[in-house]
Amino acid sequence: MAERIFIGVAWPYANGSLHLGHLAGCYLPADIFARYHRLKGNDVLMVSGSDSHGTPITIQADREGTTPEAIVERFHPEFLDSWDRLGITFDLFTTTLTENHQKVFHDLFRVLQEHGHIYSGTMVLSYCPQCQRFQPDRYVQGTCPHCGNIRARGDQCDSCGRTLDPQDLLEIRCVICGAEPEFRESEHLFFKLSSFQEPLLEWVRKQTHWRPNVLNFTRRYLEDGLKDRAITRDISWGVTVPAEGQEDKRIYVWFEAVTGYLSAAIEWAQRSGDAARWKDFWQDPGTRSYYFIGKDNIPFHTIIWPAMLMAHGGLNLPYDVPANEFLSLEDQKFSTSQNWAVWLPDYLSRYDPDPLRYLLSINMPESGDVNFSWSEFVRRNNEELVATYGNLVHRVLSFTYRNFDGQVPDHGTLGELDQGLLDTARIAMDGVDQNIHACHFKAAIGQAFSLARDANRYLDTRAPWLAIKTDKQDAATSLWVSIAVINCLKVMLFPFLPFSSQQLHGYLGLDGKVEEGTWDFDHAVGAMESGRPLRSPAPLYTKLDPQVVDDELQRLGGQTRNTVAQEAGC
Ligand code: MF3
Ligand code: ZN
Repeated sequence: MAERIFIGVAWPYANGSLHLGHLAGCYLPADIFARYHRLKGNDVLMVSGSDSHGTPITIQADREGTTPEAIVERFHPEFLDSWDRLGITFDLFTTTLTENHQKVFHDLFRVLQEHGHIYSGTMVLSYCPQCQRFQPDRYVQGTCPHCGNIRARGDQCDSCGRTLDPQDLLEIRCVICGAEPEFRESEHLFFKLSSFQEPLLEWVRKQTHWRPNVLNFTRRYLEDGLKDRAITRDISWGVTVPAEGQEDKRIYVWFEAVTGYLSAAIEWAQRSGDAARWKDFWQDPGTRSYYFIGKDNIPFHTIIWPAMLMAHGGLNLPYDVPANEFLSLEDQKFSTSQNWAVWLPDYLSRYDPDPLRYLLSINMPESGDVNFSWSEFVRRNNEELVATYGNLVHRVLSFTYRNFDGQVPDHGTLGELDQGLLDTARIAMDGVDQNIHACHFKAAIGQAFSLARDANRYLDTRAPWLAIKTDKQDAATSLWVSIAVINCLKVMLFPFLPFSSQQLHGYLGLDGKVEEGTWDFDHAVGAMESGRPLRSPAPLYTKLDPQVVDDELQRLGGQTRNTVAQEAGC
């Protein structure tokens, strides 16, 4: 039976270019998962969009002396272009600026209000006497009372991940002018998060399939006790508040951004011509919802958004929130202000997407922080992608093409070694399937590459280039087995390496798209029937010159590509 899978991916702030850390954190794993499920014939909806409100956008606009709209208009198209060139296949990547998003948020807000989950109260806010204004979240910094991080922001500490209110911070100061803010009272609307403490605890107890980091973080968060949260701010850039007397205020960015998962599904359905289609993904309890995010976003996806969904009722809660840990770059934290980053548009202007997808998959920060280095990128590209997998494919296909009239050779009678490799491939295909299904992407691609190594060893032993001189059928058999296994590898690696898998698909003489096929060993082997015409192959990957490492290290830390530097907290 086909499964129905909703995939929500963290909405990036549209205030600067995206870098490798973002890709490894959530966009790549989400895409691997989506491609896998589509290939399995499951019904997939993958959405996200540009998070276009909030102080990250207004701070950037202030610094550049431009409008928040102009900032979003610059980066949203750049994000779309990066997804396209990296093969990140969103069904919809929209923005939080749409009328639809505002409407969906307003509708949800009214239901929460009707259900008694929203109330008006007094909030103590930081006010900068020098800038003469209330300071929203990220305009204040200070020391985290929980972990001592001296650069904690008004809404969250990046070091320990806890959500904060400005008055929790010690040694508080204004990000813009450095003055010490005062605290003043202001009327705001609150979400009764505290009343979800018990329901959330009970729900989280059942999520034994979550990653340990996600489960532990969420448990600790709940054990600290949930506080009601102010959901409006004294700002002018944001979603309006659908309530009387709130004209001067806007909704707190996180409170509306998370509803983007719902509004994007609705927008996608409308665009598809069947406006009710989103309901299958949100109202059918048989649908499983996955949220791919970086670890700094955990509380919003395992606590606040689920609480909002519970408060609303009738909408699916997350099934899994496979949050990744952080990526560092050459053993240092990514830093936008110091231009310590590899920006996606820069990477794409120089290299192919699949080598990056390979490296970030085989070295995915799934269960701990992971480092990216250019020397490892070059080494793994040359030794693994080119030498292990690319060479296997190329030597088999080019030798066959030259010696067997450009056709899949006759398999003849299989011997023990031949059957052995096919059995290994069948097991690998199953294992990779189960691993991706469980969001164990690193293990999955590792298993596929281990099959490629087995196939290389098999080929070295069977040596068709020698056999062909004395026993052409024997050479034909080992080449046929290799080709059948290569077709299995193409399927297993498609979610990770979509561009080169599609290219390989063509060399194998197959038409159409890989994702239109199936994830099935017998089918993959059966498709390689003897006599099928192949297409003239070319190498799938290219070796990189070690000079790349020096060139790229030179580029790090220089002039920033974002016109004005900012610390996005990522
Ligand atoms: N923009 C946030 C960030 O970059 C993520 C928002 S995810 C959503 O950290 F759930 F709110 F959409
Ligand atoms: Zn902290």
